[in-house]
Amino acid sequence: MKSKKKNAKTITDSTIDPDVLAYTVGDDPILDLNLAVWDCMGTAAHVTMLSEMKGLKRPIVTKGEAATVRKELGKIAALAEKGKFVIRIDDQDVHMAVERMLTEKLGDLGKKIHTGRSRNDQVAVDVRLHMKDAILRTESELVGLAAQLELFGAKTGMVPLVGRTHLQPAMPSSVEMWATGHAEMILDQLENLEAAYRLADANPLGSAAGYGVPLPLDRRRTTELLAFSRSIHNCFGASMARGECEAALLSALAQLMAVLSRLAEDMILFSMPEFAYFKLPRAYCTGSSIMPQKFNPDVLELVRSKAAQVLGLQTASLSLLHAMPGGYNRDLQDCKWLYMKGLDITRTTLRILAKVVAGTTVDPDRCRKAFTPGVFATDVALRKVANGTPWRDAYHAVRDQFAALYDGKPAEVASIDPDEAVAAKCHEGTTGGIDHEVYRGRMETALKDISTRLGALQSAKKALFR
Ligand code: ARG
Repeated sequence: MKSKKKNAKTITDSTIDPDVLAYTVGDDPILDLNLAVWDCMGTAAHVTMLSEMKGLKRPIVTKGEAATVRKELGKIAALAEKGKFVIRIDDQDVHMAVERMLTEKLGDLGKKIHTGRSRNDQVAVDVRLHMKDAILRTESELVGLAAQLELFGAKTGMVPLVGRTHLQPAMPSSVEMWATGHAEMILDQLENLEAAYRLADANPLGSAAGYGVPLPLDRRRTTELLAFSRSIHNCFGASMARGECEAALLSALAQLMAVLSRLAEDMILFSMPEFAYFKLPRAYCTGSSIMPQKFNPDVLELVRSKAAQVLGLQTASLSLLHAMPGGYNRDLQDCKWLYMKGLDITRTTLRILAKVVAGTTVDPDRCRKAFTPGVFATDVALRKVANGTPWRDAYHAVRDQFAALYDGKPAEVASIDPDEAVAAKCHEGTTGGIDHEVYRGRMETALKDISTRLGALQSAKKALFR
C-alpha cells in the first residue's frame, strides 16, 4: 500500500519516500546515540588533519577554523554525554546529525567538515573507538566477577565439596577449588577479548568510501590523534574490515557467556534443596504466583538463556557477513545492533553475577554430609600404592568392593574424613595447593593495563576537544 505521507528531505537525498527512509534508517537514531561522543572525536581528528594538510593551493579549513570546529564538537559531545543529543529521522544517523548541528552553528564551515571523508569510514572509526572503550569496561567488569569468586574461595577456605564427573560423585574437592576454578576460566576469557581489542585498535579513517580520495590525506596523523595503535593500510581493506571486528567481539562475548552460563548452572544445582551446599540470598530469588513456598534462581537461569542469545548474535553477525560482496553494503548497518546488544547482555550479566556470588552463602555441613564413601575410592587405592601395591591391582581391589556395594551386596569400604582428604592433596592447583596470589596478580595486572588504556583514550578525547 502506498504511504500517504509526503516525501522527506535529508542532507543526502533531496527526496525520499518516508517508508523507505524509515526502513533504511532503522534503529540508528537510537543506536547511534552510543556513537555520538566518538563521532565528534573522529570528526575533530579529521578536521585537524585537514587543516594541517600540505601541498594544496589553499587550505580546505584553516587551523583557526579547525579549532572553532573542535570547540563546537566538544559542546556537542558534552550534550551527548548528558543524554541531551537528539538524532532526527531526517538526519538518518549520528554523522548527519553532527554535521547538521555544526552547520546550524558555523554555517559554511560546518559544510566543509565532510571533505575527503565518507560515512563509511566515519562509522567504522566510531564503532572502533566505541568498541575499544566498551571492551576495556567489559574486561574490568569481568575482573570484578573473578575477584568476587576469588574472595568467595578465600572466605570459605577449604570447606570440602564433592568433586563430580558425569555429575556423579568423583573425588574430594573444596568450595575454594570450585570458586577459583571458575575465576580462572573467566580470567582466561580476557585473552579473547584482548584479541578483539587488538583488531579494533586500527584506524580506518581516511579510507573514505573504501577507495581513498584525490587529496593528500595524512592518515597516520588521525591514527595518532585518535590513539589507535596502527592504521588499516589498504582503503578497500578498511571498508571490508567493517563487521569483522564486530563478529570477533561477538565471538569473544559468546565464549565468555558460555563460561558464565556454566558457573550459573553449577550455582543452580548446588543451591537446589536436594544439594543445599549453597544458599542464594532471598532478595536474589523470585517467587511463584501459585506456589507460596518458591524461591527460584531465575537470575541464574536467565544467564543460561542470555548465553544462548549472545551465541545467536554471533551467528547472526557471521551470517550477515559471509555472502556480502566487497566494499560497503548497507547490511553492515545491522551489525551495529548485534555487537551493541551482545555487549549490553554480557556486561549486565557480569555485573549481576558478581552480585549473586558476593551474596551466596555456603553450608559447610551440607557440603561435608554429601561425601559418600565412593568419593574416597581413588584415595584409598592410592594408599595401597603407598604400601607397595601396583596401581592396577590396587584399583581392582577397590573397584571390587564398590561393585559389590553397587549391586547391593555388603562390602567393607574405608571411610575417610572429607577435611583430611582435602588437606592431603597439596600439589599445585589441587585442594591444598590453591595459590590466591596467582589470581590476585593476574587481576591486578589486568586492571592496571585496562586503566592505562582507558586513560589514553580519555586523554586523546580531551586533547581533541580543547
Ligand atoms: N548508518 C550507516 C551505517 O551504519 C552509515 C553509513 C552509510 N553509508 C552509506 N554508504 N549509505 O552503515
